[in-house]
Amino acid sequence: MAKKITDNISWVGKTDWELTSFHGNELSTGRGSSYNAYLLRGHSKTVLLDTVWGPYDSEFVARLKEELPLDQIDAIVMQHNEIDHSGALAELLREIPDTPVYCTARGEAILRGHYHQNWNYINVKSGDQLELGGGETLTFIEAPMCHWPDTMFSYYDGCGGVLFSNDGFGQHYASESLFDDEVPECEVLAEAKKYYANILATYSPMVARKVKEILAKNLPLSIICPSHGIVWRRNPGKIIEKYLEWSDQAYAENQVTIVYDTMWNSTRLMAEAIARGIREAAPATTVKLFNASKEDKNDILTEIFSSKAVLVGSPTINYGHSYAMAGIMEMLKGLRLKGKKGAAFGSYGWSGEASKQLGALLTEAGFEVVDEGIRMVWVPDATALKACEEYGKAFAAKI
Ligand code: FEO
Repeated sequence: MAKKITDNISWVGKTDWELTSFHGNELSTGRGSSYNAYLLRGHSKTVLLDTVWGPYDSEFVARLKEELPLDQIDAIVMQHNEIDHSGALAELLREIPDTPVYCTARGEAILRGHYHQNWNYINVKSGDQLELGGGETLTFIEAPMCHWPDTMFSYYDGCGGVLFSNDGFGQHYASESLFDDEVPECEVLAEAKKYYANILATYSPMVARKVKEILAKNLPLSIICPSHGIVWRRNPGKIIEKYLEWSDQAYAENQVTIVYDTMWNSTRLMAEAIARGIREAAPATTVKLFNASKEDKNDILTEIFSSKAVLVGSPTINYGHSYAMAGIMEMLKGLRLKGKKGAAFGSYGWSGEASKQLGALLTEAGFEVVDEGIRMVWVPDATALKACEEYGKAFAAKI
């Protein structure tokens, strides 16, 4: 069922309550998601912005038909052509094959590469406009790498100003309520941060530039309609402020995240002792511990994104480090975080390479490794744990 946003804008997307992972298994989605598509009825033109993921294509088209005869859609705007937004386009265009598809040149290349169809593409650039009648327009704003090269936003100058922002300002958050004022803010902001950290943080310089560029235009703005999650209408400035904060490469809370894996609890005991030392030396610092093999990988990455420093630990196994830590370190490298410090630790029995390897991986991921870390042989006794506490205190002084 369509949901009304304003008199002439309706949400015609799909809420996916069952989604537990996205991008294959790269991103966990603990609260489901939604694929938001919007119908904008101008005075003389009706525009559909984006579609939904392929498994819901028939449902999407059927519900759209309940909303209006499909031949009344004058234009389809594809703001970004990843499959979660373009997946129902083929089903829709089977019904209305000649409808113009407005997208960036990169968007056309992606649509052709995905669906191999010679649709009625119309390439647009920043500043190009679609006249909607009554003096109102939809203006396109290219936003490459927010989140793919083809991404663009669209600004509608009616209804006090509406920004259709595609992945930008979105969250993987399923809700029957459509608006920010109808859901718990802490839940939505937590999901928005997880989304930012895992999907957009890699591209923070481009995100920061684009948000500032849009703000500099001083456009009236009453509503932000992203392509996932809730619509920001109570205070769209709130999520813009958050994006300015998160996309600043110096962003960090006063937090240290300790991520470790453990075989027989020795590395866990070390992690807990280091945490005690940090807290003793820096009581105002939040310290969080995560076992990489038990906790959600994307929640861990979100916590690291929020931290000023990270400690990574693993026992040495087969001359290396653990499978779970290898995964975290690979994902961390991809986020390209800046301005964060770190070090490595771990227990071992004989060869003891793990902490050195993790330290090198931290450097490769762009962290400033502040020291050689700490390692302990076999099961740490009271003296060894005391040394770990002292190490924690020294680490706190370096970050
Ligand atoms: Fe929601 Fe980049 O797709």
